[in-house]
Amino acid sequence: MPLLEILEYPDQRLLTVAKPVDTVDDGLRALIDDMAETMYAAPGVGLAATQVDVHIRLVIVDVSETRDQLQVFINPEIVEQEGEQACEEGCLSVPGIYDTVTRAARIRVRALDRNGAPFEIVAEEMLSVCLQHEFDHLEGKVFVDYLSRLKQSRIRNRIEKRARRR
Ligand code: NI
Repeated sequence: MPLLEILEYPDQRLLTVAKPVDTVDDGLRALIDDMAETMYAAPGVGLAATQVDVHIRLVIVDVSETRDQLQVFINPEIVEQEGEQACEEGCLSVPGIYDTVTRAARIRVRALDRNGAPFEIVAEEMLSVCLQHEFDHLEGKVFVDYLSRLKQSRIRNRIEKRARRR
């Protein structure tokens, strides 16, 4: 299976709002498998379809230490949230940049699994952070959008410098 290309900030395609998935079929499952391979190879703990330039509401995550607990979220919705937690985040689309973002501490999520079956989970700690970060990608949002303007322009400068060196 091929590794997919991951879009990098500030690529405008990362600003696309993803459309709902209407059929969970073998084609979608093939995309999920390619995304999983891409995420594990990166390596990363989460990947949204947006990041591989497919603009549908699909997110995969694996926050386990053993890297064998893939979770698939199709058409995810946060139906409840409470509390606050601040956590250092990074993103495969913003390589080498890490900063602290404050998000809900605990969320209840409703979604479809890779077979199209609905399920609900309550997520806390790292899984909660990771899901909120990935769901943001589906809205065309990256974690640096939460940072101050000054930090955002520093990040853009760093990325431009790096691109010139390539
Ligand atoms: Ni990300």
